[in-house]
Amino acid sequence: MVYPVIAIDGPSASGKGTVAARVAETLGWAYLDSGALYRLTALYMTQQGVSPEKEDAVADLATHLPVMFHHGDIFLNGNNVAGKIRSEEISLLASQIAALPKVRAALLQRQRDFAKSQGLVADGRDMATVVFPNAVLKIFLTATAQIRAERRAKQLGVALDTSEFQQILSDIEQRDEKDKNRAIAPLKQAEDAYLIDSSHLTIDETVAKVLDLYRQVEK
Ligand code: C5P
Repeated sequence: MVYPVIAIDGPSASGKGTVAARVAETLGWAYLDSGALYRLTALYMTQQGVSPEKEDAVADLATHLPVMFHHGDIFLNGNNVAGKIRSEEISLLASQIAALPKVRAALLQRQRDFAKSQGLVADGRDMATVVFPNAVLKIFLTATAQIRAERRAKQLGVALDTSEFQQILSDIEQRDEKDKNRAIAPLKQAEDAYLIDSSHLTIDETVAKVLDLYRQVEK
């Protein structure tokens, strides 16, 4: 049995995680936050004292991640790390090890397994291009770097006229560059993906657009 997949890719802070989770909830499907797997690998490395230069050792940790996803919480070795994996340090390390081919290979089947028992909405950078090339619907969700930085600042309670805001914007631009320019599975819109620019859309409007597109392709 092959279950349908909706793949949602896009740059950091484009809102794809929130949108993907809401679409999954509406359809009664599973949700995969693929970025969390790279973040978990990064956290596990720091806990085990493995450096990013040791590609084989990092890939080995990725293969054997003792992780459990449960109602929005994420447990590594039994500890809830949902908050910890969002730190700036882990974000940067995740982005660094995501450029390692053996790490990406180690996480590939793990991601595909999420679609084994029910429909799946998956978000990331290469969901449509690499992990689920046969997805029934592919979305590339983006927004300008300025708007994405403003959204992140709002979440963190940072005012827009501060140097802290400039730092958030520059971190977002740096991660975009890294994700777009890496040799393996770079962030890019799949040829058959729909582009949604959410710069001037609310979350509700974006979710409605994705569901609309799904109803059209499902017919
Ligand atoms: O999506 P999120 O920001 O949580 O992802 C963290 C990092 O993991 C990204 O900066 C990116 O480098 C990497 N990633 C990836 N492929 C994915 C998902 C995330 O390379 N499918």
